[in-house]
Amino acid sequence: MRKKIIAGNWKMNMTPSQAVALCAELKDLVKNDDVDVVYCVPAIDIVPVVNALKGTNVKVGAENMYFEEKGAFTGEISAAMLKDAGVEYVIIGHSERRDYFKEDDALLNKKVKKAIEAGLTPILCCGETLEQREMGITMDWIRMQIKSDLAGVAAADVAKLVIAYEPIWAIGTGKTATTAQAEEVCGGIRACIEEIYDKATAEAVRIQYGGSVNAANAAELFAEKDIDGGLVGGASLKADFGKIVCYNK
Ligand code: PGA
Repeated sequence: MRKKIIAGNWKMNMTPSQAVALCAELKDLVKNDDVDVVYCVPAIDIVPVVNALKGTNVKVGAENMYFEEKGAFTGEISAAMLKDAGVEYVIIGHSERRDYFKEDDALLNKKVKKAIEAGLTPILCCGETLEQREMGITMDWIRMQIKSDLAGVAAADVAKLVIAYEPIWAIGTGKTATTAQAEEVCGGIRACIEEIYDKATAEAVRIQYGGSVNAANAAELFAEKDIDGGLVGGASLKADFGKIVCYNK
């Protein structure tokens, strides 16, 4: 049985002091032993958030990292830095990074490998545009993303990975994919993993849905057999996140 994983993606929100206040506000609301809970936070919030979450059930994730070990890469943050600061997860290939910062699959493949090498768990994002969905190429596109982003990654590492299916048209729009649409693609991703690797790896990998997840739709989405939790943007910044984490209570 796969344990659900529900991660907040704070994006470029919360100053360090606001971040600490949010951790305190959510502390008692996000307790659920059935679920792994993660806050993926801006780099500058990592150290105060790690401290604020000491002794709680919540783990810390980063929103990005660079693949090089260290050196002259002004403005970048390495996997080793994240690990040393107490980070356990790192979002890789969020659609905002692919789109605004032109991160391509070749780069994301390097990031995935480096994160794993450093002992971080990647939350690898994939998803189609509205145009691609309307053209009927959703699954082809996502299979291409998964295959490129995981090229050369061993089955044992893929089994421990988190993949987030986030249809771009559902992110921050209030327009959630229907439960059937979300399950169809999450199941398709699992089938793709089985095809590249094997059944055991496909059964182990955790696949989240992301895109306008909220307190009202979380329980229905997470009840699907191939949806192992969510990557939550907007709703992770409010008390509602507690309701999402406790979706089964
Ligand atoms: P949203 O963002 O929940 O605000 O739609 C999800 C995400 O981008 O991870």
